[in-house]
Amino acid sequence: MRGAARLGRPGRSCLPGARGLRAPPPPPLLLLLALLPLLPAPGAAAAPAPRPPELQSASAGPSVSLYLSEDEVRRLIGLDAELYYVRNDLISHYALSFSLLVPSETNFLHFTWHAKSKVEYKLGFQVDNVLAMDMPQVNISVQGEVPRTLSVFRVELSCTGKVDSEVMILMQLNLTVNSSKNFTVLNFKRRKMCYKSYPTLRIEKNDLRSVTLLEAKGKVKDIAISRERITLKDVLQEGTFGRIFHGILIDEKDPNKEKQAFVKTVKDQASEIQVTMMLTESCKLRGLHHRNLLPITHVCIEEGEKPMVILPYMNWGNLKLFLRQCKLVEANNPQAISQQDLVHMAIQIACGMSYLARREVIHKDLAARNCVIDDTLQVKITDNALSRDLFPMDYHCLGDNENRPVRWMALESLVNNEFSSASDVWAFGVTLWELMTLGQTPYVDIDPFEMAAYLKDGYRIAQPINCPDELFAVMACCWALDPEERPKFQQLVQCLTEFHAALGAYV
Ligand SMILES: *[C@@H]1O[C@H](CO)[C@@H](O)[C@H](O)[C@H]1NC(C)=O
Ligand SMILES: *[C@@H]1O[C@H](CO)[C@@H](O)[C@H](O)[C@H]1NC(C)=O
Ligand SMILES: *[C@@H]1O[C@H](CO)[C@@H](O)[C@H](O)[C@H]1NC(C)=O
Ligand SMILES: *[C@@H]1O[C@H](CO)[C@@H](O)[C@H](O)[C@H]1NC(C)=O
Repeated sequence: MRGAARLGRPGRSCLPGARGLRAPPPPPLLLLLALLPLLPAPGAAAAPAPRPPELQSASAGPSVSLYLSEDEVRRLIGLDAELYYVRNDLISHYALSFSLLVPSETNFLHFTWHAKSKVEYKLGFQVDNVLAMDMPQVNISVQGEVPRTLSVFRVELSCTGKVDSEVMILMQLNLTVNSSKNFTVLNFKRRKMCYKSYPTLRIEKNDLRSVTLLEAKGKVKDIAISRERITLKDVLQEGTFGRIFHGILIDEKDPNKEKQAFVKTVKDQASEIQVTMMLTESCKLRGLHHRNLLPITHVCIEEGEKPMVILPYMNWGNLKLFLRQCKLVEANNPQAISQQDLVHMAIQIACGMSYLARREVIHKDLAARNCVIDDTLQVKITDNALSRDLFPMDYHCLGDNENRPVRWMALESLVNNEFSSASDVWAFGVTLWELMTLGQTPYVDIDPFEMAAYLKDGYRIAQPINCPDELFAVMACCWALDPEERPKFQQLVQCLTEFHAALGAYV
């Protein structure tokens, strides 16, 4: 059992600096940065140019406004700002394009609206899983006139409690000005979590229920774009059936504008199951908005084409490959990447994970291979679509048909197939270890079949050379056998931030 160490039972004092922590509020600054383009900030250069006002019939339109009040945004997103979908007839397609995530315990949404002159509306809902959620109820009639005074309407999203699931909801509001045939369709997307218990307590079994390719395509129909908008450039990573390209995405309205993108796709020999898995797993972070998360933005699922998944580009690519590159360079240039840089990366990952935990999303496959990095050393967590194919050494079959990231998994996940934010914390500890070792494989000498027994006996990965004790103590806490004893992501952010500051002070 080389390269491993046996831990004592991690005691209460295990997380230095975490003692006596207030329950810290979510980091508003990070959220603010992540949502900046979404807010009606004056002169925000990054915000897309407003499109022509579609509601405006003449110079003086009906002055329709529809928004989330400051209280509502604070309650749902944790920011002090109003969020306008329509402001004085001007539609914010950008705000509408987000499918906001609604946690289980949030059952009501409130919209504020009014119009200066007569505007008729029709309101409708679609729900993709009626077993898990009742049809939404509203306290206005489904057809009528937009009120002339500032009014609020309430949408009730109640889970049935019969099935645990995420539910996609589409709220459609059709506005008609002046009884003409000319109307505007506004689509609001929400992703509602219907789970019976709260984040850290919530235990999810790995869902092996098979989804057909048709169903998987159906779930991403609303973010499908035309194949013509994508140009493929270099292959960044290649597996036996999957590939990641550096691609160029052409703007929908202005073909002269383009954005760089990651394009995940499959080769000819990919099976239907592999294609289905790529599409389903790509949706893990959909509807989430945080500067340390990289969710899917589009898909291309045209007939006769290999399906493609599109994500925003990060120019230094995969974090695991980046760390390994650093390791090679380190031999000649020990200053290539500092310990402080590595801790800063860990903080960013913990921030992204903290956000996920608050949104009740369990990642289930956090690892350096499922993060990306850019030249400002900004790190983002992404989904694990294609990772089994691109990093086959990091996944193992334990006698069943499922290929699992055994070396990153908490004991309860390995043995009982139970996943929670606490098992994500375990994987975070391993990811921190990957950072400090510049991308080494954890437990490399241990037979994957022996992992569970090995962990039960109290063995863990050894302290990396040059890794300060304080930092190893943080990892070790993440590997407490009892999920309740592991730190929360918010505590990890706090504790790593203090450590990062201390490193700065010593340099
Ligand atoms: C709808 O109204 C807009 C703005 O006034 C106008 O440009 C457009 O032609 C109208 N469309 C129809 C189908 O009447
Ligand atoms: C809104 O208009 C679209 C397009 O005509 C139509 O398909 C949809 O059913 C309408 N929705 C409602 C709620 O009336
Ligand atoms: C709908 O409910 C909201 C919140 O409970 C309330 O503020 C609003 O006045 C209600 N609207 C109507 C039309 O009843
Ligand atoms: C609405 O239609 C009436 C006639 O049908 C017209 O006189 C009036 O100018 C129109 N108002 C707007 C705001 O277009």
